[in-house]
Amino acid sequence: MSKPAKPAKPVTAAKSAKAAKAAVVAKAAPAAAKETVTLTDNSTGRSWDYKLVDGTVGPKVIDIRSLYADTGMFTFDPAFTSTASCESKITYIDGDAGVLLYRGYPIEDLVERCDFLEVCYLLLNGELPTPDEKKKFVYDIMHHSMVHEQLSTFYRGFRRDAHPMAVMCGVVGGLAAFYHDSTDITDAHQRVVATYRLIAKMPTIAAWAYKYSVGQPFIYPRNQMDFAQNLLHMMFATPCEPYEVSPVLSKAMDRILTLHADHEQNASTSTVRLAGSSDANPFACIAAGIASLWGPAHGGANEAVLKMLGEIGDPKNIPAFIKRVKDKKAKLMGFGHRVYKNFDPRAKVMARTCQEVLDDLGRHNDPVLALAVELERIALSDQYFIERKLYPNVDFYSGIIFRAMGIPVSMFTPVFAVARTVGWVAQWNEMISDPAKRIGRPRQLYTGATPRKMGPIRRQR
Ligand code: ACO
Repeated sequence: MSKPAKPAKPVTAAKSAKAAKAAVVAKAAPAAAKETVTLTDNSTGRSWDYKLVDGTVGPKVIDIRSLYADTGMFTFDPAFTSTASCESKITYIDGDAGVLLYRGYPIEDLVERCDFLEVCYLLLNGELPTPDEKKKFVYDIMHHSMVHEQLSTFYRGFRRDAHPMAVMCGVVGGLAAFYHDSTDITDAHQRVVATYRLIAKMPTIAAWAYKYSVGQPFIYPRNQMDFAQNLLHMMFATPCEPYEVSPVLSKAMDRILTLHADHEQNASTSTVRLAGSSDANPFACIAAGIASLWGPAHGGANEAVLKMLGEIGDPKNIPAFIKRVKDKKAKLMGFGHRVYKNFDPRAKVMARTCQEVLDDLGRHNDPVLALAVELERIALSDQYFIERKLYPNVDFYSGIIFRAMGIPVSMFTPVFAVARTVGWVAQWNEMISDPAKRIGRPRQLYTGATPRKMGPIRRQR
């Protein structure tokens, strides 16, 4: 990471401050000037220059790290719509062009040419593995997939009807209690071990959350299976009879995992980074990421899409539903994205995969898919969605595939969490290994009471 900027020098200092209200405007420096942006306080006429920083691709960034020290003012950007919270080399999104790159490689190529564990290696290490590196990585991950037997007793503390995401928040947080002594985050090797443990154990933890909810015995991981097969096996096998993992379904699951593996500084990843910035235990940080992912505006959207389709019920009810959306009485779940203002590239791959899975299962006439396709068609031709650049996101289709694969609705988001764990740990590692890391600490625009004196306190006798 680049060093913190030196304080910017005021470039002008007007003597009179006529403006009644302090208004601050940023304007681009003249073309001939150096790569800076000048910030002027119109109430005083004072200006400061701020350096423009170039990423390897993407928009320039104004380095305002010394802003408060220079000006005594903060910026106000509540949902981080214009703020880069960190420097990262992992994932790049161009939301206008519908581009998603992991370590520079387009998601479409990775989905076609790599398996999920190769993508994990890429996200963690910056390069795709050689055959030997892959062999070792796969071995290491598969040999971390079992959880401590005592962890299985945690599940019994939950009600059977608890949401699996609630169970995952608790159980993943509980891992911190098992590995606290071997998780010195200043030791790069121990960080790798924590990383492997998290990626490897997450399918087991998620599958067991499901098994617990249906009252079936926990199924242990099998090292000869690949990552996606193992997840399906642990979810659907029972001790009573052999379970064959369908190659089409495991391939689809592998793709789905890759599509969800990372997505730069989204809400859950930013949560993991912020939690980790205090040097907190990584297992606890990932539990925080799971909590954030659960929300229907984020990873919980795949579950919400299915609920919405269930409520609409029939294509004839779509116009009435769209009207409710436009009247702001409902949201079209699986549509819209903070960054993508064009098609979500993951949704395109997902739509294709969805078709393949449904064809393989002989369910191309699936009424829910037909309803989703019709809903998508109507929404994409409606001015409300066109004007707001609202397109289907990855969750619009993932729920439909999951349903076809027999995954229960409440497990949609846990599967997303299994996939995203590698992104969370890659971003966490990037942050922890940065020597310039500091605790994350946003500022606020305070609009509460001004200082006041306390009167006598009346207490009930
Ligand atoms: N349905 C209807 N209207 C929408 C939707 C939607 N899904 N999404 C955005 N809008 C409208 C907003 O009401 C707003 O309209 P306005 O200008 O009249 O006020 C406008 O589009 C802009 O929306 P914002 O809420 O400002 O967009 P923001 O970037 O804050 O939110 C989000 C992005 C949370 C993804 C939003 O689009 C949404 O809630 N979508 C549905 C949930 C969803 O599918 N989430 C999954 C995201 S992908 C992921 O996390 C894997």
